[in-house]
Amino acid sequence: MSRQKIKLDYRRFGIFGRRHVTENDAFQNASQQVVKLHDLLLAGKDSLLKDKDVVMTGWKTDSPFVSISKLDAIQETARKLAFQIDDFISIGIGGSYLGIQSTIDAVKGSIELTNMLPKEKRKSPRIFFLGHNMDPAYTSRVLEIIKGKEIGAVVISKSGGTVEPAIAFAVTKNLMEKSYDAKKVAERIVAVTDKAKGALKKLADEMGYQTFVVPDNVGGRFSVTCPVGLFALAVAGVDIKEFIAGAKFAEEQVRENRYEKNIAMLRAVMRFVAHKHMGIDIELASTGIYDLRSTTMWMNQLGPESEGKNGEGLFIVPQYYTREAHADGQLIQQGKRNIAELFLMVEKPGVDVTIFGKGTPVEYLDGKGMHFANTAFVEGLRDAHYEGGVPTMSYILPQLDAYTMGMLYQYEMNAIALSGLLLGQNPFIQPGVQQYKNVANARSGKPGTEDAQAAMKQAEGKLNSRFII
Ligand code: PA5
Repeated sequence: MSRQKIKLDYRRFGIFGRRHVTENDAFQNASQQVVKLHDLLLAGKDSLLKDKDVVMTGWKTDSPFVSISKLDAIQETARKLAFQIDDFISIGIGGSYLGIQSTIDAVKGSIELTNMLPKEKRKSPRIFFLGHNMDPAYTSRVLEIIKGKEIGAVVISKSGGTVEPAIAFAVTKNLMEKSYDAKKVAERIVAVTDKAKGALKKLADEMGYQTFVVPDNVGGRFSVTCPVGLFALAVAGVDIKEFIAGAKFAEEQVRENRYEKNIAMLRAVMRFVAHKHMGIDIELASTGIYDLRSTTMWMNQLGPESEGKNGEGLFIVPQYYTREAHADGQLIQQGKRNIAELFLMVEKPGVDVTIFGKGTPVEYLDGKGMHFANTAFVEGLRDAHYEGGVPTMSYILPQLDAYTMGMLYQYEMNAIALSGLLLGQNPFIQPGVQQYKNVANARSGKPGTEDAQAAMKQAEGKLNSRFII
């Protein structure tokens, strides 16, 4: 397929019947501000860009410009592994998981359905994700499905110590050790982690696993375009050179275009004005495309984990249409007016289904494609929501391929980084997530958390047992 650009349609981002966002008094000021913030982002010169001492902008300055030889090396390891296996397990959580599923779903088709196709049709191993939850039922079902198959795995963790993927890795490794000798297990496992630190790096070195490095200057939710995403995508048969070419094109557009023509800057400014000056707290990430549902989940991670600090931040909520139109569509249309909406639209679907409507209630659609009906309904929802008081904008994706997804991620990572900075937040840290990890580690009895365990017991002792009925 030929490469085409993503468009941003923000004609409806405003208060219906009153004014467009560009007429809001705060818009001009924020537009000037965003250009300066982008200069800082590019130069890496602001304390709000750092996690500890590291400037966290590698996703912008390095990942889209990775050398072809590095991509070749990743592709070669992936090709060798994919050739030997039936099933591939990708282990990780948060940024070490969501971008991979989002890209595979969009480019190859949603995995839970694609996995059911015969191998000749898939042309790549079946893909399973572990480590994004601690649910024994889910995990045991996956292990049951892959038992007896030729298995390969990637375990991804920047810190190397996150408990969810560590548990999933322990059970996967155990399963593999029952089927293969130590040498074969080592050949079938790849680790993507820090270059030197962390428990996973230590284990990988001891066991002789091949490793790829998560760069210091790339945080989890900004890592889909670095080895975190690239290795698993290559195993799944996604063209990673096209993927990076899309990211590079979008990055160049963000750097070169004036803000009036700049997708990332405009989106950042509109989100900021909506949140600070129009009473918007929630941004729906909506799509009628089944294969983009996990992309809306990737957005749901990127935005809130980057911006949600110091009592601020837009909460991004995935919406899958038209299913949700028959559920929370009611609240979106008529509930509290604190919602904006971003649509992910696709111009050319990979496939279409003709509607044979003669003699049925949809006779008027006879001969039309389902894509026509789907687009009409999602555009109808967009218009109805706008008229009901929900400012809406749309990313218009030309098609679903690796190039387009690379572009989309690069625009969105820039947009979220910039809207976080407009809010005065550091988009590259996640102290709240660390807080959860500390409490959960204490609850599960991790050595070294004895003080937190005692504090937890004390706090629990103060709760009133009358309130359990
Ligand atoms: O964006 C982030 O930093 C997080 O969502 C991480 O990706 C997530 O917590 C997983 O961390 P790690 O890769 O260290 O296991």
